[in-house]
Amino acid sequence: MKKILALLLALTMVLTLAACGRKEKDPKNSGNKGDTPSQQTENNTEDKGQDNPPVESKKANKDKPLVWYNRQPSSSATGELDMAALNFNKDTYYVGFDAVQGATLQGQMIRDYIEAHINAIDRNGDGIIGYVLAIGDVGHNDSIARTRGVRSALDTAVEANGNVESAAVGTNLDGTSTFVKDGKLSIGGKDYIVRELASQEMKNSSGSTWDASTAGNTIGTWASSFGDQIDIVASNNDGMGMAMFLGWSKANNVPTFGYDANSDAVAAIADGYGGTISQHADVQAYLTLRVLRNALDGVDVDTGIGTPDDAGNVLSADVYKYVESERSYYALNAAVTAENYQNFLDATVPYGPVSNQLDAGTHPAKYVWLDIYNAADNFLSATYQPLLQKYDDLLNLNVEYIGGDGQTEGNITNRLSNPDGYDAFAINMVKTDNAASYTGILSQ
Ligand code: BGC
Ligand code: CA
Repeated sequence: MKKILALLLALTMVLTLAACGRKEKDPKNSGNKGDTPSQQTENNTEDKGQDNPPVESKKANKDKPLVWYNRQPSSSATGELDMAALNFNKDTYYVGFDAVQGATLQGQMIRDYIEAHINAIDRNGDGIIGYVLAIGDVGHNDSIARTRGVRSALDTAVEANGNVESAAVGTNLDGTSTFVKDGKLSIGGKDYIVRELASQEMKNSSGSTWDASTAGNTIGTWASSFGDQIDIVASNNDGMGMAMFLGWSKANNVPTFGYDANSDAVAAIADGYGGTISQHADVQAYLTLRVLRNALDGVDVDTGIGTPDDAGNVLSADVYKYVESERSYYALNAAVTAENYQNFLDATVPYGPVSNQLDAGTHPAKYVWLDIYNAADNFLSATYQPLLQKYDDLLNLNVEYIGGDGQTEGNITNRLSNPDGYDAFAINMVKTDNAASYTGILSQ
C-alpha cells in the first residue's frame, strides 16, 4: 500500500512538473493576472487524464459562454441580424442598447433645443436653420439609427427602400441633395426651414471609423467655407462631437450635440455643449459580464438581472429590455441636457442597484477573454472599459482586456490564439459582419 502511495506521489510530481513546463511555454502566461483558474483546471484535468480513460474532459470552446457586445452581429449592408452568431451556443447573447429609442431621444433633444432658442438660433438671419452632422460608421446599425433619428426629428429625412436614408450628403449648401430634404418646423405659429448643410462619415485614412480627429479637422473645413450658416452641430457620438466642440463650436457659441454621455462631454454642458444621450453604459457593462457569470454558475440567465441574486443585485424594467428572439439585452437611453447633467458627471460609476459584491465561495473566480475593437475609441476606453473593470471585481471574473486597432479583425483574432485557457468570451467586432472570424476559432 505504502509503495503504491509513494509511486502515485512520484507520478503526480512528474506530471505536475510536466504541466508546469507546458504552462511556461504558454503565451497566455504573459497575461497580467498571473495563473488563472482555468489553467488550474486544465492542469488538474491533464493530471487526471493520465489515468486511462480521462476522468473528465474540459468543456469545448464552442460550448463556452459567449457574449457579443456594442457591435451586434448583423449585415453592415442591410442591418439584418446574424442569428447564427447570436445562437452560436445555448449561452450566447448580445448586449447593447436600444438604438432606435436612443436615436429618437437624440433627435427630440435637438428639436427641443431649437424650439427653446428659436429667436437666437439662426445666426446669419437667412431664415434657414443649418446643421452639420458627423457620422460614425455608415455600416454600423447604431450609427445608422442616430443619423435617421436626427433627420426624422428635424424633418429632413427622406425614404429609401422603406427606411430613412442614412447616407452622408457630403455638402448640401443649396439644399439639392437627394439623401435629405429641406425640413419645415412650425414653431410659435411660424414656419422655419431646416437644412442638413453637410454630413460625412468620420473615417481616417487607415480605416478607423467614429474618428474624433477626422471630425475635428472636418469642422475646420466646413467652418471656413460656410461657417455662419452652421447653427447646430450634431454628431453620432461624443468623441467626434467634443472634437468639433473644442475645435470650433465652443468658441463660436454653436450648440453641439453628441451621444454616449462620456464624462468630458457631460462636463462640457456647463460650457455650452448642447447635450448628449446616456446609453446606460453602466447597465450594459454589467450585463456584458453578468450573462457570462450566470452561465458559468449554471444558473438562470435572468439571475441578478430581472431576478435578484443572492447579493441583492437586480435591474428594473426602466433601464433595460431583453428580446428573446434576438438573444439580445438592450439598455435604455436617457437624454442628458443642461437640466439634468449634474447627475451624469461621472460615467464610470457602477449602477447602484447592481453594485453588490458576489461571494467568492459560491461564485468562484473564472477567466474571461474580452476585446475592445479599437483601443482608441472614446466611449469604449473612457466609459465602458472602466466600468467593466469595476464589475469584473464585483462578479469575481478575471478579465483579460485586448485592445484592437479599430481597422482589422485579424489584429484581434490573432490574440485569441489560446481559447482553451479561458472560461468565457466577450467580443466587440471591428465590423458587425465578421462574427464568423471568432466563432470559427472557437469551433476548431
Ligand atoms: C458609441 C460610439 C462608439 C461605438 C463603437 C457606440 O455605441 O456610441 O461612441 O464609437 O459604439 O462601436
Ligand atoms: Ca441660418
